[in-house]
Amino acid sequence: MTEDYLEQYERQTPGSKRIHERAREYTPGGLSHDARYHSPYPIYMSSAKGCRVWDVDSNEYFDLWMAHYDAILGHSPPEVLEELKRAMMDGLHVGLAMEHEVRLAKRVVDMVPGVDQVRFCSSGTEATMYAVRLARGFTGRNVIIKMVGGWHGSNTDLMVDVRPPEYIGPECRGLPPDLGRYTRSVEFNDIKSMERLMDEVGDDLAAVIMEPALGPAGFLKAEPEYVKFLKEQTKYKGALLIFDEVITGFRLAPGGAQEVYGIKPDLTTMGKILGGGMPIGAVGGRKEIMERSSVTRSGGKMNRVAIGGGTYSCNPLSMIAGRVTLDILRDQKHRIYPALENANRLYCEGVEEAFANVGIPVFANQFGSLNEVHFLREHGLPVRNMAEVLRHTNREMQAEYLVRLRNHGLFLFHGGAFSMAHQPGDIQEMLAINRRVADEMARKWVDSDTF
Ligand SMILES: Cc1ncc(COP(=O)(O)O)c(C=O)c1O
Repeated sequence: MTEDYLEQYERQTPGSKRIHERAREYTPGGLSHDARYHSPYPIYMSSAKGCRVWDVDSNEYFDLWMAHYDAILGHSPPEVLEELKRAMMDGLHVGLAMEHEVRLAKRVVDMVPGVDQVRFCSSGTEATMYAVRLARGFTGRNVIIKMVGGWHGSNTDLMVDVRPPEYIGPECRGLPPDLGRYTRSVEFNDIKSMERLMDEVGDDLAAVIMEPALGPAGFLKAEPEYVKFLKEQTKYKGALLIFDEVITGFRLAPGGAQEVYGIKPDLTTMGKILGGGMPIGAVGGRKEIMERSSVTRSGGKMNRVAIGGGTYSCNPLSMIAGRVTLDILRDQKHRIYPALENANRLYCEGVEEAFANVGIPVFANQFGSLNEVHFLREHGLPVRNMAEVLRHTNREMQAEYLVRLRNHGLFLFHGGAFSMAHQPGDIQEMLAINRRVADEMARKWVDSDTF
């Protein structure tokens, strides 16, 4: 028998269902980005503005997904749109050097503590691919250590141990058989396991790469002593520390997570917010490492690390949208970052209260303006890494929660992100939706055997 909330979903979104059926004929699974799929079929959107999105059936949703967490100023911010309209008249993509890229590079170097130099590409996936190549090329070593549950885009080098429940080993078919030899992984926030793995890898360790907020696990915070340990140990062992700040960059602070932790990684990958709503990726870091990729470097092929490709790298629209966005974030940082955190705190506390009132233990994890609601098996269980997420949370409830939220007009996937477009009144309405969903879920789950 179909569950009531799934029936409601289908009743409200017949247009999306029809489009998805058609889409499946032309695209495998009906989608090009796996993360945009959700069961029973994705909602097809028609427009977005501020903190809202509208679907093809004219349903309106509050948005907490916010374009893969990138729309920090809200959807379609007027300042960015105005500049883009003007810029388009000078050519969409010229494919030659333009001053726009120098302006954005200066912003990044000025704002991000660990970045002396930066190169742009078109996605975060490319950025992490280049960072790994740079780390191997600079150190002359082979092994990269990543976190279990760490997502760095669809980059072959790092497609190991990402998503539960089958998260140990390669993420899919089609990867090189010896990938696991050169890409090793370890539980996040676990110093002892990291020490053991570093010892095992020895002097073939090129780099440790980490997301300061472990994305697929629900934006779990890297503990400050863990970050400090990684910084010291990578340095001591002659390896590099790479922060993947594709999500956290410009979101947690103007200088990203590294500003929050007060630690400069050797390399930083960026994307999302940096493009101001247009496609982008970037890798930046210490000058002596970045210079290895210079096109003017002498000494032949084997003396440099080639990371400078991409037809659309530095396309003027991304450079301009990124610059306008970064300028706003930099100039209004004292207003923007506290406001975003405050909104997130209000929301997360309200969500926990809504579920506590109906007897469902929930941990609404917050890191700056990022959040994720975890359905705990019992109050107070720790959730610090992927192993604990799997052991201590009920992911079936979480999936159901997301569908029920959509039914009532709040859209997110795993994890949410606040923007400057979310106003106090919107937060109250989003909490009212959570209270409605909490009541519905309590009727099904509280006192059930599987809770
Ligand atoms: C931490 C992290 N790194 C890299 C990527 C890949 O970025 P893109 O989707 O732009 O290729 C993502 C994408 O979600 C990400 O979250």
